[in-house]
Amino acid sequence: MCGGGVQGGDDARVVTGSGAQARAPLPAINSPFNDWVVMHNKQSAYCTCVATARVPRGTVARALFWDTADPYYYVRRQEVPGAGYDLLVVGGEDHKTGEATDPEAHLRCPKEWTRAHFPGAKEFEYRWSGQVLEPNDGLAFAGRNPLDADNVFVITGDSGHGMTYGTLGARLVADLVQGRANPWARLYDPGRVTVARESALEFVRENASVVAEYTELLTGGDVASVDEIPAGQGAVLRRSLTKVVVHKDAEGRAHECSAICPHLGCLVHRNGLEKSWDCSCHGSRFTALGEWLAGPANTSLVPA
Ligand code: FES
Repeated sequence: MCGGGVQGGDDARVVTGSGAQARAPLPAINSPFNDWVVMHNKQSAYCTCVATARVPRGTVARALFWDTADPYYYVRRQEVPGAGYDLLVVGGEDHKTGEATDPEAHLRCPKEWTRAHFPGAKEFEYRWSGQVLEPNDGLAFAGRNPLDADNVFVITGDSGHGMTYGTLGARLVADLVQGRANPWARLYDPGRVTVARESALEFVRENASVVAEYTELLTGGDVASVDEIPAGQGAVLRRSLTKVVVHKDAEGRAHECSAICPHLGCLVHRNGLEKSWDCSCHGSRFTALGEWLAGPANTSLVPA
Protein backbone atom coordinates (compact mmCIF):
# COMPACT_ATOMS: atom_id res chain seq x y z
CA MET A 1 0.00 0.00 0.00
CA CYS A 2 1.10 3.53 -0.57
CA GLY A 3 1.65 5.01 2.89
CA GLY A 4 0.93 4.45 6.56
CA GLY A 5 -2.39 3.92 8.37
CA VAL A 6 -5.76 4.03 6.64
CA GLN A 7 -8.29 6.62 7.76
CA GLY A 8 -11.98 5.71 7.52
CA GLY A 9 -14.88 7.84 6.30
CA ASP A 10 -16.40 8.53 2.90
CA ASP A 11 -13.25 10.11 1.56
CA ALA A 12 -10.85 7.40 2.76
CA ARG A 13 -7.21 8.38 2.35
CA VAL A 14 -3.85 6.99 3.38
CA VAL A 15 -1.71 9.19 5.59
CA THR A 16 1.94 8.90 4.64
CA GLY A 17 4.82 9.08 7.10
CA SER A 18 5.22 12.79 6.42
CA GLY A 19 1.56 13.47 7.19
CA ALA A 20 0.67 14.11 3.52
CA GLN A 21 -2.41 12.34 2.17
CA ALA A 22 -2.25 9.88 -0.72
CA ARG A 23 -4.85 10.33 -3.47
CA ALA A 24 -5.48 6.65 -4.09
CA PRO A 25 -5.02 4.09 -1.29
CA LEU A 26 -4.25 0.63 -2.67
CA PRO A 27 -3.94 -2.25 -0.20
CA ALA A 28 -2.27 -4.93 -2.36
CA ILE A 29 -2.43 -7.62 0.25
CA ASN A 30 -3.30 -11.20 1.01
CA SER A 31 -6.32 -10.38 3.19
CA PRO A 32 -7.64 -6.84 2.66
CA PHE A 33 -7.72 -5.07 6.03
CA ASN A 34 -9.60 -2.10 4.60
CA ASP A 35 -12.67 -4.20 3.84
CA TRP A 36 -14.61 -5.72 6.72
CA VAL A 37 -17.21 -7.87 4.93
CA VAL A 38 -17.67 -7.63 1.14
CA MET A 39 -14.37 -9.02 -0.15
CA HIS A 40 -14.25 -11.67 2.56
CA ASN A 41 -17.48 -13.20 1.25
CA LYS A 42 -15.98 -13.44 -2.23
CA GLN A 43 -12.92 -15.47 -1.30
CA SER A 44 -11.74 -18.02 1.26
CA ALA A 45 -8.48 -18.49 3.14
CA TYR A 46 -6.57 -21.74 2.60
CA CYS A 47 -3.39 -22.94 4.28
CA THR A 48 -0.73 -24.43 2.02
CA CYS A 49 2.15 -26.56 3.39
CA VAL A 50 5.67 -26.44 1.94
CA ALA A 51 8.82 -28.53 2.49
CA THR A 52 12.24 -28.61 0.87
CA ALA A 53 14.34 -31.66 0.01
CA ARG A 54 17.89 -31.92 -1.27
CA VAL A 55 18.30 -33.32 -4.79
CA PRO A 56 21.53 -33.93 -6.70
CA ARG A 57 22.52 -30.72 -8.49
CA GLY A 58 21.09 -30.33 -12.00
CA THR A 59 18.81 -33.40 -11.86
CA VAL A 60 15.56 -31.41 -11.87
CA ALA A 61 14.71 -28.96 -14.66
CA ARG A 62 14.40 -25.26 -13.86
CA ALA A 63 10.62 -25.06 -14.05
CA LEU A 64 7.44 -24.97 -11.99
CA PHE A 65 5.44 -28.21 -11.97
CA TRP A 66 2.09 -29.06 -10.43
CA ASP A 67 -0.25 -32.01 -10.60
CA THR A 68 -4.01 -31.99 -11.09
CA ALA A 69 -5.07 -33.91 -7.98
CA ASP A 70 -7.24 -32.36 -5.26
CA PRO A 71 -5.51 -31.29 -3.09
CA TYR A 72 -2.66 -30.80 -5.53
CA TYR A 73 1.12 -30.51 -5.17
CA TYR A 74 3.44 -27.99 -6.78
CA VAL A 75 7.22 -28.20 -7.20
CA ARG A 76 10.08 -25.99 -8.26
CA ARG A 77 13.84 -26.19 -8.04
CA GLN A 78 15.90 -23.72 -6.01
CA GLU A 79 19.62 -23.44 -6.65
CA VAL A 80 21.80 -23.13 -3.55
CA PRO A 81 24.99 -21.15 -4.36
CA GLY A 82 28.11 -22.92 -3.13
CA ALA A 83 26.29 -26.14 -2.20
CA GLY A 84 26.71 -29.39 -4.07
CA TYR A 85 22.95 -29.89 -4.34
CA ASP A 86 19.71 -28.14 -5.33
CA LEU A 87 16.66 -27.77 -3.14
CA LEU A 88 13.34 -29.06 -4.33
CA VAL A 89 10.56 -26.83 -2.98
CA VAL A 90 7.40 -28.94 -2.70
CA GLY A 91 4.05 -27.49 -1.61
CA GLY A 92 0.48 -28.63 -1.38
CA GLU A 93 -1.96 -30.20 1.08
CA ASP A 94 -4.02 -27.00 0.79
CA HIS A 95 -6.85 -27.00 3.30
CA LYS A 96 -9.23 -24.37 4.57
CA THR A 97 -7.62 -22.32 7.33
CA GLY A 98 -8.89 -23.49 10.71
CA GLU A 99 -10.12 -26.83 9.37
CA ALA A 100 -7.03 -29.06 9.52
CA THR A 101 -8.47 -32.45 10.42
CA ASP A 102 -5.17 -34.36 10.42
CA PRO A 103 -2.28 -31.91 10.95
CA GLU A 104 0.37 -34.64 10.89
CA ALA A 105 -0.77 -35.73 7.43
CA HIS A 106 -0.03 -32.24 6.12
CA LEU A 107 3.59 -32.83 7.11
CA ARG A 108 3.87 -36.46 6.11
CA CYS A 109 2.08 -36.47 2.74
CA PRO A 110 4.30 -33.95 0.90
CA LYS A 111 7.34 -36.02 1.88
CA GLU A 112 5.75 -39.26 0.67
CA TRP A 113 4.63 -37.60 -2.56
CA THR A 114 8.10 -36.16 -3.15
CA ARG A 115 9.85 -39.49 -2.59
CA ALA A 116 7.43 -41.21 -4.97
CA HIS A 117 7.89 -38.66 -7.77
CA PHE A 118 11.52 -37.59 -7.24
CA PRO A 119 13.49 -40.69 -6.13
CA GLY A 120 16.63 -38.54 -5.95
CA ALA A 121 15.12 -36.45 -3.12
CA LYS A 122 16.92 -37.23 0.11
CA GLU A 123 17.10 -35.03 3.20
CA PHE A 124 14.19 -32.75 3.97
CA GLU A 125 15.55 -29.50 5.33
CA TYR A 126 12.87 -26.86 5.91
CA ARG A 127 9.12 -26.65 6.16
CA TRP A 128 6.66 -23.83 6.50
CA SER A 129 3.12 -22.88 5.67
CA GLY A 130 1.49 -19.95 3.96
CA GLN A 131 -1.99 -18.59 3.55
CA VAL A 132 -3.58 -18.43 0.12
CA LEU A 133 -6.76 -16.48 -0.69
CA GLU A 134 -8.99 -18.37 -3.14
CA PRO A 135 -11.67 -16.35 -4.98
CA ASN A 136 -15.01 -18.18 -5.25
CA ASP A 137 -15.00 -17.84 -9.05
CA GLY A 138 -11.29 -18.62 -9.45
CA LEU A 139 -10.08 -15.22 -10.71
CA ALA A 140 -8.12 -12.64 -8.69
CA PHE A 141 -9.47 -9.18 -7.83
CA ALA A 142 -7.86 -5.91 -8.90
CA GLY A 143 -9.68 -2.60 -9.08
CA ARG A 144 -11.95 -0.33 -7.05
CA ASN A 145 -12.83 -1.62 -3.60
CA PRO A 146 -16.59 -2.39 -3.67
CA LEU A 147 -18.96 -0.19 -1.64
CA ASP A 148 -16.11 2.20 -0.86
CA ALA A 149 -14.97 5.66 -1.93
CA ASP A 150 -14.07 5.93 -5.64
CA ASN A 151 -10.41 6.50 -4.86
CA VAL A 152 -9.89 3.29 -2.82
CA PHE A 153 -8.53 0.25 -4.68
CA VAL A 154 -7.65 -3.32 -3.76
CA ILE A 155 -5.63 -6.22 -5.17
CA THR A 156 -6.31 -9.59 -3.54
CA GLY A 157 -7.42 -13.20 -4.15
CA ASP A 158 -4.33 -14.26 -6.04
CA SER A 159 -4.69 -18.04 -5.36
CA GLY A 160 -0.99 -18.26 -4.61
CA HIS A 161 -0.05 -16.56 -7.90
CA GLY A 162 0.99 -13.31 -6.28
CA MET A 163 3.84 -12.58 -8.68
CA THR A 164 1.49 -12.79 -11.65
CA TYR A 165 -1.56 -11.07 -10.21
CA GLY A 166 0.50 -8.50 -8.29
CA THR A 167 2.11 -7.40 -11.55
CA LEU A 168 -1.15 -7.51 -13.48
CA GLY A 169 -2.99 -5.66 -10.71
CA ALA A 170 -0.36 -2.93 -10.49
CA ARG A 171 -0.70 -2.19 -14.21
CA LEU A 172 -4.49 -2.32 -14.07
CA VAL A 173 -4.91 -0.11 -11.00
CA ALA A 174 -2.29 2.37 -12.26
CA ASP A 175 -4.56 2.91 -15.29
CA LEU A 176 -7.68 3.30 -13.16
CA VAL A 177 -5.98 5.81 -10.84
CA GLN A 178 -4.94 7.87 -13.84
CA GLY A 179 -8.34 7.64 -15.53
CA ARG A 180 -7.15 5.47 -18.43
CA ALA A 181 -9.23 2.65 -19.89
CA ASN A 182 -7.90 -0.84 -19.26
CA PRO A 183 -9.22 -3.86 -21.20
CA TRP A 184 -8.92 -6.12 -18.12
CA ALA A 185 -10.82 -3.84 -15.75
CA ARG A 186 -14.19 -5.62 -16.00
CA LEU A 187 -12.67 -9.08 -15.79
CA TYR A 188 -10.81 -8.44 -12.54
CA ASP A 189 -13.31 -5.97 -11.04
CA PRO A 190 -13.55 -6.72 -7.27
CA GLY A 191 -17.24 -5.73 -7.46
CA ARG A 192 -18.12 -8.27 -10.16
CA VAL A 193 -21.05 -10.62 -9.64
CA THR A 194 -20.41 -14.06 -11.11
CA VAL A 195 -23.50 -16.06 -12.00
CA ALA A 196 -21.75 -19.16 -13.37
CA ARG A 197 -23.17 -22.28 -11.72
CA GLU A 198 -19.83 -23.50 -10.39
CA SER A 199 -18.90 -20.21 -8.73
CA ALA A 200 -22.40 -19.85 -7.28
CA LEU A 201 -22.09 -23.34 -5.79
CA GLU A 202 -18.66 -22.47 -4.45
CA PHE A 203 -20.08 -19.34 -2.82
CA VAL A 204 -22.83 -21.40 -1.15
CA ARG A 205 -20.36 -24.09 -0.04
CA GLU A 206 -17.88 -21.65 1.49
CA ASN A 207 -20.51 -19.54 3.22
CA ALA A 208 -22.38 -22.58 4.55
CA SER A 209 -19.26 -23.42 6.52
CA VAL A 210 -19.28 -19.86 7.93
CA VAL A 211 -22.87 -20.35 9.14
CA ALA A 212 -21.85 -23.69 10.69
CA GLU A 213 -19.09 -21.90 12.60
CA TYR A 214 -21.59 -19.64 14.37
CA THR A 215 -23.60 -22.66 15.54
CA GLU A 216 -20.44 -23.97 17.24
CA LEU A 217 -20.97 -21.35 19.91
CA LEU A 218 -23.67 -23.66 21.24
CA THR A 219 -21.62 -26.87 21.40
CA GLY A 220 -19.18 -28.15 24.01
CA GLY A 221 -15.43 -27.50 24.09
CA ASP A 222 -12.56 -29.71 22.89
CA VAL A 223 -12.02 -30.76 26.51
CA ALA A 224 -14.03 -30.31 29.71
CA SER A 225 -11.32 -28.79 31.91
CA VAL A 226 -7.92 -27.10 31.80
CA ASP A 227 -6.44 -30.11 33.64
CA GLU A 228 -6.91 -32.23 30.52
CA ILE A 229 -4.54 -30.04 28.46
CA PRO A 230 -0.90 -31.25 28.44
CA ALA A 231 1.97 -28.72 28.67
CA GLY A 232 2.76 -27.22 25.27
CA GLN A 233 -0.75 -27.91 23.97
CA GLY A 234 -4.00 -25.96 23.76
CA ALA A 235 -7.74 -26.48 23.52
CA VAL A 236 -11.07 -24.69 23.28
CA LEU A 237 -13.21 -24.82 26.44
CA ARG A 238 -16.80 -23.86 27.16
CA ARG A 239 -17.12 -21.13 29.82
CA SER A 240 -20.76 -20.59 30.73
CA LEU A 241 -22.39 -18.93 27.67
CA THR A 242 -19.21 -18.49 25.70
CA LYS A 243 -15.94 -20.27 24.82
CA VAL A 244 -12.29 -19.60 25.63
CA VAL A 245 -9.01 -20.84 24.17
CA VAL A 246 -6.42 -22.12 26.63
CA HIS A 247 -2.75 -22.65 25.82
CA LYS A 248 -0.46 -24.34 28.33
CA ASP A 249 3.16 -23.25 28.01
CA ALA A 250 6.15 -25.59 28.50
CA GLU A 251 6.02 -24.98 32.28
CA GLY A 252 2.34 -25.90 32.37
CA ARG A 253 1.05 -22.34 32.97
CA ALA A 254 -2.36 -21.78 31.36
CA HIS A 255 -2.97 -18.72 29.17
CA GLU A 256 -6.60 -17.95 28.38
CA CYS A 257 -8.25 -15.75 25.77
CA SER A 258 -11.73 -15.44 24.35
CA ALA A 259 -12.33 -17.92 21.51
CA ILE A 260 -14.37 -15.31 19.64
CA CYS A 261 -12.61 -13.99 16.54
CA PRO A 262 -12.47 -10.17 16.71
CA HIS A 263 -13.31 -9.93 12.99
CA LEU A 264 -16.97 -11.03 12.79
CA GLY A 265 -17.38 -13.24 15.83
CA CYS A 266 -16.79 -16.81 14.59
CA LEU A 267 -14.99 -19.28 16.85
CA VAL A 268 -11.27 -19.88 16.40
CA HIS A 269 -9.83 -23.41 16.33
CA ARG A 270 -6.57 -24.93 17.46
CA ASN A 271 -3.98 -25.42 14.71
CA GLY A 272 -1.96 -28.20 16.33
CA LEU A 273 0.72 -28.15 13.65
CA GLU A 274 1.67 -24.51 14.07
CA LYS A 275 0.33 -23.97 17.60
CA SER A 276 -1.87 -21.09 16.49
CA TRP A 277 -5.57 -20.27 16.78
CA ASP A 278 -7.15 -20.06 13.33
CA CYS A 279 -10.55 -18.80 12.25
CA SER A 280 -12.01 -20.73 9.36
CA CYS A 281 -14.67 -18.09 8.54
CA HIS A 282 -12.33 -15.65 6.78
CA GLY A 283 -8.81 -16.79 7.74
CA SER A 284 -7.73 -14.65 10.71
CA ARG A 285 -4.94 -16.25 12.74
CA PHE A 286 -3.50 -15.70 16.23
CA THR A 287 -0.48 -17.04 18.12
CA ALA A 288 -0.79 -19.59 20.92
CA LEU A 289 -1.01 -16.63 23.34
CA GLY A 290 -3.73 -14.97 21.28
CA GLU A 291 -1.62 -12.30 19.56
CA TRP A 292 -2.71 -11.22 16.08
CA LEU A 293 -0.94 -13.00 13.19
CA ALA A 294 -3.11 -12.51 10.10
CA GLY A 295 -6.23 -10.57 9.11
CA PRO A 296 -8.91 -9.65 8.29
CA ALA A 297 -9.11 -9.25 12.08
CA ASN A 298 -6.88 -6.35 13.06
CA THR A 299 -6.63 -6.99 16.81
CA SER A 300 -5.55 -9.87 19.03
CA LEU A 301 -7.88 -12.25 20.87
CA VAL A 302 -9.26 -10.64 24.03
CA PRO A 303 -7.59 -12.00 27.21
CA ALA A 304 -10.11 -13.96 29.29
FE1 FES B 1 -13.89 -13.36 10.03
FE2 FES B 1 -12.86 -14.72 12.03
S1 FES B 1 -11.90 -14.11 10.25
S2 FES B 1 -14.88 -14.01 11.82
